[in-house]
Amino acid sequence: MSALPLRLGVNIDHVATVRNARGGTYPDPVRAALLAVEVGADGITAHLREDRRHIRDADMAALRRHLSVPLNFEMAATDAMVALALGLKPHAACLVPENRAERTTEGGLDIVGGRDHLGPRIRALAEAGIRVSLFVEPDEAVMEAAHALGAPVVELHTGRYCEAVVAGDAAASAHERARIVRAAGHGQRLGLEIHAGHGLTTGSVGPIAQISEIRELNIGHALIADAIFVGLAQAVRDMRAAMDAARR
Ligand code: PXP
Repeated sequence: MSALPLRLGVNIDHVATVRNARGGTYPDPVRAALLAVEVGADGITAHLREDRRHIRDADMAALRRHLSVPLNFEMAATDAMVALALGLKPHAACLVPENRAERTTEGGLDIVGGRDHLGPRIRALAEAGIRVSLFVEPDEAVMEAAHALGAPVVELHTGRYCEAVVAGDAAASAHERARIVRAAGHGQRLGLEIHAGHGLTTGSVGPIAQISEIRELNIGHALIADAIFVGLAQAVRDMRAAMDAARR
């Protein structure tokens, strides 16, 4: 049986990071998103952080207006962010842990400890027709907790796997990939849709794209970094090609 298609969600946060380095409006994250879609992105992801260090409220509104593909609104699970999402009505909302001091999202959500806090927010988003995903560690007990919370989607954190690949530690990357395989299988058996992301590059994406239960990858930093050398369109095409080659 051939594997189900694997979608690519392009995260455009760091287009906004470059813009904000000088103030003003250039480069425009919406233009980057439209270009990414033209060359193979299936959706666009943007993280409106509480400190607005890259994407801003006006970017989210403009993305919502201009995109014809699904918009995945990455957000902290706070009342303020839920209110913004309910106003914006993106296709999906990915709930992530957020800590002001971190450089990027460093770990998965604590959905076992955060159950009381997450449940009502997941329900509010779902009732508005927004597809909720939880950004979590690849762990079977966490899949059970996500399922119990009623989220239809989980995004498995690939950061530890990617760090092992970058370190050239084959045993550690195989171990981390095996955790992702087990979590993806268990999550799918529970009826969850499985996504994955964080830290993926053209060099590390293949073994993750091969995991047939995974339906979507969300990738940002490496694409914007590669764009410095080859341009954004080519960077997205290269990532798409690496994913498709591994999936076949
Ligand atoms: N998925 C989630 C939930 C994230 O928080 C991030 C980082 O913003 C990504 C995917 C993309 O990670 P990267 O920028 O390292 O590709």
